[in-house]
Amino acid sequence: MKVDTKNNTKKTEKEIEKLLGKMTLDEKLSMIHGAAFFKSGSVERLGIPGIVTSDGPMGVREEFMSDRWFSAGNNDDNVSYLPSNSALASTWNPYMAYEMGKVLGAEARGRGKDVILAPGINIKRSPLCGRNFEYMSEDPKLTATIAVPLIKGVQENDVAACVKHFAANVQETDRLMVDEEIDERTLYELYFPAFKAAVQEGKSYSIMGAYNKVNGYHCCENKMLLDRVLRDEWGFDGVVISDWGGVHKTKEAAECSLDLEMSVFSDFENYNLANPLKEAIKKGEISEEVVDAKVRNLLRMMYRLKMIGKEKSARKPGTYNTPAHREVTLRIAEESMILLKNENQCLPLNASKIKKLVVIGQNAAKIHSNGGGSGEIKALYEICPLMGLKCYLGGNTQVRYVKGYYVPDKLKTFDHNWQADSLDDLSNSDVGMLTREDDSTQNAAHRRGEEERLANLEKEKEEIHEKNKALFAEAIEAAKDADAVIFVGGLNHDIDSEGFDRTDMKLPYEQDMLIEALLEVRKDLIVTFIGGSPVEMPWKDKAQAILWSYYAGMETGNAFAKVIFGDINPSGKLTETFPNQYEDCVTAKNGQFGVWGSIKLEEGLYCGYRYFDRQRIAPAFCFGHGLSYTQFTYSGLALKAEKGRDVKLTFTVKNMGKRMGAEVAQVYIAPIMPKVDRPNKELKAYTKVELAPGRSKKVTVTLKEEDFAYFDESLHNFIADAGDYEILIGASSEDIRLKGIATLS
Ligand code: BGC
Repeated sequence: MKVDTKNNTKKTEKEIEKLLGKMTLDEKLSMIHGAAFFKSGSVERLGIPGIVTSDGPMGVREEFMSDRWFSAGNNDDNVSYLPSNSALASTWNPYMAYEMGKVLGAEARGRGKDVILAPGINIKRSPLCGRNFEYMSEDPKLTATIAVPLIKGVQENDVAACVKHFAANVQETDRLMVDEEIDERTLYELYFPAFKAAVQEGKSYSIMGAYNKVNGYHCCENKMLLDRVLRDEWGFDGVVISDWGGVHKTKEAAECSLDLEMSVFSDFENYNLANPLKEAIKKGEISEEVVDAKVRNLLRMMYRLKMIGKEKSARKPGTYNTPAHREVTLRIAEESMILLKNENQCLPLNASKIKKLVVIGQNAAKIHSNGGGSGEIKALYEICPLMGLKCYLGGNTQVRYVKGYYVPDKLKTFDHNWQADSLDDLSNSDVGMLTREDDSTQNAAHRRGEEERLANLEKEKEEIHEKNKALFAEAIEAAKDADAVIFVGGLNHDIDSEGFDRTDMKLPYEQDMLIEALLEVRKDLIVTFIGGSPVEMPWKDKAQAILWSYYAGMETGNAFAKVIFGDINPSGKLTETFPNQYEDCVTAKNGQFGVWGSIKLEEGLYCGYRYFDRQRIAPAFCFGHGLSYTQFTYSGLALKAEKGRDVKLTFTVKNMGKRMGAEVAQVYIAPIMPKVDRPNKELKAYTKVELAPGRSKKVTVTLKEEDFAYFDESLHNFIADAGDYEILIGASSEDIRLKGIATLS
């Protein structure tokens, strides 16, 4: 195992051994499992505190009671609501990721946390996965380059990042038990690279094992994933934390590289790594050595975080809800918005010419911070688009809001705590307390819950249809009588959520019908969305302007208004393919998604743009797409062989329009005559350049040997074959502006 020499000197390792030598078995065991829902056990006698964790990727979650799934009822746990990982990645700006990491880390410390359960870096395999909004992209390179600076920013605050969920956490259906069959090459080329970068480059102090199984074994008990890949190949010496309830078997979990068992159950002493492990050790079935290895990793992280040791007094105190933090969330939100379509310069709107603005659609006024599952937070505030527009216009313009469509109130059906509900059947537990059940009982309850949810959705459809009649009529009338009309629809966390997947890729609540009807009366309708995953847009050819925003944090509304009125020139780009219809996706074709029991990722590397490319299916909006209010040209591509097998590229990007703007220039590699089957092209680098009107910039990108490589299963290694590779430089994966050929010797 590799030891990080900078933070983790030999001296620390000696101190760890010394502490370990003083500990009883009971004390060691107390450290390796939860003693509260979000805290591990402490060893007070030796001054070792428990490790305090919290979700999550969009900000620090509210405080819970230690053994009941109820809010602690505190009034000081409102925090900055940060852009979701999908919004952050849409900036294609690693610097923004670093800035966001610093805010998340400072807020976590400010709230007294040691580990923040973020970021979510799983690859988006199907647009229907319920947790896609928490993840970054369908592409491993993009995910890695956003995750690494984010982690660094977090950890500068003496808080550990906990990248999750390792590995291939691609669906929510049957999430605790589903077994995913994945071939090695696909794991190494698609599902592993961002995790590898997170631990090797980001130096993430911790990582969370996923709920699902990979090739027959639960991820938290998976020797291939945790021992061979994570520890041996990548040299990870940090802490592996289980997802909450992700451990099922004592011996398996004890004997692999999992360090800390966390769960949703209140009987902490019955956790697998508590009394059951103690019994097994006493009987001689499991060696105490395995406990020592876990404690070492936990203590090492504690030293790194200055929780113990000589540097304790120098630990950063953190801070939350500062104006500076809000400024960062605003800047990321501004950069994350994606202009999908803009004909006739429909956008930006000229505020001085609008006396009456009509805003239609529930996402104009909806609060999203309080939903989604474990990513939910108690936001200090959240500016919705309607509020943002009103603040921007400042009262001199009449702004009329109509709902447009009906959204059923979910609080009626989800009246328990979300986390408890999603994992067990509350009927056999004390209020808010969960008693452990065997896997099959738990799974049956999970399945019953899912069936009920689907039946409810069916029932709701009629209710929606009935209520929409009057709402549609009102919206259409309002649209006729306005200088400009903005539709703000999309999804919400009743749909984009942990715990279940989407049933289709359509806009809910009959929004398509409403948009069609509105486009009949307003050709200049500005169609905008907030959502966490792609939707079908059957009317897209008729609409002139389409703007997409992921859940972009507390300043969403202000950023939205600035983009609509042109104070901000949009520069976000899609980090995932937006298909025309779900049927075009590989998971629709092979049916290996959203089913119970097991799935086979038989498409291998071919998901997202890799699949659309190979099948020559035109998506609605491709990976990497995003427009600007200005135009950029690309010119002068030159390639040069560098030392070793590196290739240096230079090209020039110029802003030809009249506004300041930023462009994400993307570099793809397309092997010519590859020896093995390879995707038509793959993203290998990108760079975001901000340019004043008329200005240009020479961009330099160095491609490394590893950028040309694929994973050879027989050699169990990456190799870059000699030969020719086409280098494609584009404004998106389809809008290729420059081409060259690199020859690898
Ligand atoms: C989620 C994790 C989360 C954990 C703790 C689990 O249900 O999958 O992402 O960090 O709960 O809340």
